[in-house]
Amino acid sequence: MNIINLHDKNLYYIGGVVRDKILGKNSFDIDITFEGNAIEFAQTISNAEILQINKPFGTVKIKLEDKEIDIASTRGEIYPKKGHLPLVKNIGCSLKEDVLRRDFTINALAQSTLTGEIIDYTNGVKDIQTKTLRVLHDKSFIDDPTRIIRGLKFAIRFNFELDKHTKKLQDEYLENINYNISYKRLKKELIETFNLNSAKAFFRFIDNKMYKLLNEKYSSTDNISEILEFAKHNFEEKITGLEELINKLKPLNIWIIYIGLFPEINNLPLTKIEKKIIEDFNNLKTKNFKTDFDIYKNFKNLTTETIIMYSVINSKTVEHYLNNLQKIEPEISGKDLLNLGIKPSKEYQKCFNYILDEKIKNPQITKLEEIQYAKKFFKI
Ligand code: CTP
Repeated sequence: MNIINLHDKNLYYIGGVVRDKILGKNSFDIDITFEGNAIEFAQTISNAEILQINKPFGTVKIKLEDKEIDIASTRGEIYPKKGHLPLVKNIGCSLKEDVLRRDFTINALAQSTLTGEIIDYTNGVKDIQTKTLRVLHDKSFIDDPTRIIRGLKFAIRFNFELDKHTKKLQDEYLENINYNISYKRLKKELIETFNLNSAKAFFRFIDNKMYKLLNEKYSSTDNISEILEFAKHNFEEKITGLEELINKLKPLNIWIIYIGLFPEINNLPLTKIEKKIIEDFNNLKTKNFKTDFDIYKNFKNLTTETIIMYSVINSKTVEHYLNNLQKIEPEISGKDLLNLGIKPSKEYQKCFNYILDEKIKNPQITKLEEIQYAKKFFKI
């Protein structure tokens, strides 16, 4: 592996990049660790420009041959507040200590930038070969419960399974959750996991009771239909349909379509757009559509995400809207009405609705015919 042109006996590729290399997959980012103080090391590289230094974290960003490279110092971690960002300790510790603070053995591998040798203190290579996700110590999920969602992410992404003991630790944690956790970190992992658009991930999230992480209220709920009203009938079919619709329509915010089905998604810090998707979905759930005009008017300004979510409540209406109504767009404009000598007023909107209604009944009508309808509306 020759991803960076920087070699030193203390410099290692670490974490996901080594795992991905063994799996023959591309990495999203390349983590590099210096066994010792990375900042001091960076200052000794003659042809590197130092772009940024973060002393408390022991990290440094350099520019080398037009490439930006982040180098971290080896470090330990402590979790004084369980479920929150850990505190850094022992900057410049041994590579072994750095590796042992990590989540799963498959992410605890290092590779020398100098010799290419893989340093494997935890049998990570074997676990990659046997497709196993194994935590490094029994307190791993207590320290950082977001690792439960990370485990789901890796299970789905690589088709791996939790080892038996790790699954037991996960179950134990989910029976006894510490709700003082960082919902920001949880959200990040939920995004990465559910953006994979996998119905299987959603079924696991439920079967393994990971949804309990979202809300204290769920802590004693074993029956998912108590939370998800739509889960009473044909649940699997509905969620599989969701996955297919996402594949077809390719929305941006895939994760929210799944997690937004839980009413208490609002426990997570949401952006304005995300809040709107959820609000619109909750609003849509209360509606009872009587006519196509009704459907059109309610759906027209919704995000694709909300529309896909609503398919679990009423897939026929969504299908009908997408196949028959979505593309309908009257061509007539206010300018056309002005040209007919009609003064702007509230009647304009009523006229447009009247024409829209006709166009929904018969999408073939032309602009000329729309103008005829306008004349009829204004009795001219
Ligand atoms: N890590 C951890 N516990 C976490 C998050 C991260 O121990 N809650 C460690 C893992 O060793 C991981 C590394 O930090 O490999 C980098 O984290 P991140 O970039 O989130 O994960 P990657 O393994 O690189 O995964 P991805 O391919 O999704 O980026």
